[in-house]
Amino acid sequence: MNRIIVKTQDGDVKISRHMYGHFSEHLGRCIYGGFWVGNDPEASAAIPNTRGIRNDIVAALRRIKIPSLRWPGGCFADEYHWKDGIGSRHDRPKMVNTNWGGVVEDNSFGTHEFLDLCGQLGCEPYICGNVGSGTVQELSQWVEYCNFDGVSPIAELRRTNGRAEPWKVRFWGIGNESWGCGGNMTPEFYADNFRRYATYARNYGDARVYKIACGPNSDDYNWTRVLMEKASGHMNGLSLHYYTVPGEWAKKGFATECSEAEWYITMKKAAYMDELVHKHIAIMDEFDPKRRVSLVVDEWGNWFDVEPGTNPGFLYQQNTLRDALTAGLHFNIFNNHAERVYMANIAQTINVLQSVILTEGAKMLLTPTYHVFDLYKVHHDAVKLPVYTESEVSGGLPALSASASADDKGRIHVSLTNVDVKNEQEVTLELRGATLSSSIKATGRIVTSENMTAHNTFDKPDVVAAKDFSGVSISGGSLGVMLPPMSVVTLELA
Ligand code: AHR
Repeated sequence: MNRIIVKTQDGDVKISRHMYGHFSEHLGRCIYGGFWVGNDPEASAAIPNTRGIRNDIVAALRRIKIPSLRWPGGCFADEYHWKDGIGSRHDRPKMVNTNWGGVVEDNSFGTHEFLDLCGQLGCEPYICGNVGSGTVQELSQWVEYCNFDGVSPIAELRRTNGRAEPWKVRFWGIGNESWGCGGNMTPEFYADNFRRYATYARNYGDARVYKIACGPNSDDYNWTRVLMEKASGHMNGLSLHYYTVPGEWAKKGFATECSEAEWYITMKKAAYMDELVHKHIAIMDEFDPKRRVSLVVDEWGNWFDVEPGTNPGFLYQQNTLRDALTAGLHFNIFNNHAERVYMANIAQTINVLQSVILTEGAKMLLTPTYHVFDLYKVHHDAVKLPVYTESEVSGGLPALSASASADDKGRIHVSLTNVDVKNEQEVTLELRGATLSSSIKATGRIVTSENMTAHNTFDKPDVVAAKDFSGVSISGGSLGVMLPPMSVVTLELA
């Protein structure tokens, strides 16, 4: 029996649009060969771009209303020295990207280019600073360079480099994975360092800095406890990183190869995000009962083996219906924890891990994950409605997951996933507190396929796409929904 109750009168917190944020690292072909064609005269002549940034990608991400973009890493962030990436591109030093494939990083994409990209996307930048190998002064001056409007050598340097007005960047990460690639620190050592680095990440006028501390690696609850105990008074957000890895790290499995058993393992591992979020929030509640500090899941997604024949350091993987389902699962979990989760950033936007866009030269395709972002954009900044879900079990986990919100036009949106590989699920959907009159219009959009590894290619870019959904009907005061196997649906009740 499948029953979903949406409490339409009990909404009290907003689902922050930043839950639908993205992450772009100097890794593989995310920036170079993805967003940025500006350092390659042939590519920039062949691919329409604005100041080196691809127009087709900007248009696609604007369609899903990308709210925020994290940069420059990832592990790359803790070896990045921002002053290498400003001034004349000709004179910028070249370096080796030690984390990702040992390729040459020519620094042609730096602070000005990133903030130009965010301007073109209409999204908020989220810059991750270097704590692992950088200095307090370096991070402090980066904030000053971006945000200070007054008289100082650093603000002057920005003006000399062609930008008169400060950008007023709000989101700043104080290091990345400081428990691992960001310095292999203990939580106690990092907590002290966080306090020190955060002190000098100054507010300038109305440019207030939202300081995001490096949080735990998946289930490292001790990290959360120590950070909250020692440093929560100095932070605005605490990050969490968790990747869905279907196999072992040494043999994760390919994106496009999936047995039924692997499908359900992937779904279970993705659904584990719920337990992680729940338990980390419980610890945060102990130290911060008023929920001033947010949880920022700034790296999440499926991590498979790289596509055969591609650079192992580039983390390039295809994206299938399986990714669409895990994206839907994550979004339902985040929406349902909107009282504490303020931001989440999928890893990563283009050509890396669970991407929403893949490129090959001038060609670009939208992945199944992109279409799920499209389905869920209705939840941006809408009021979360509590949802109660009773579900059949498939492959050892509930077949259904759900979340709901009400927007400022009074429309209710309910998003649902059915992870069952074979069976459709008949669902009774009750809108508690609302009267279902005949004037209610119920429509929907769906991402599905009969094939669990269905994916888009440059030759067939529309194999998996969002389509209109007709499996919803109103009868006897409740709604009936027929969810096909392996589907993600968003209903609109207007
Ligand atoms: O997203 C790829 C890498 O995964 C990031 O650089 C790092 O933060 C994480 O381990």
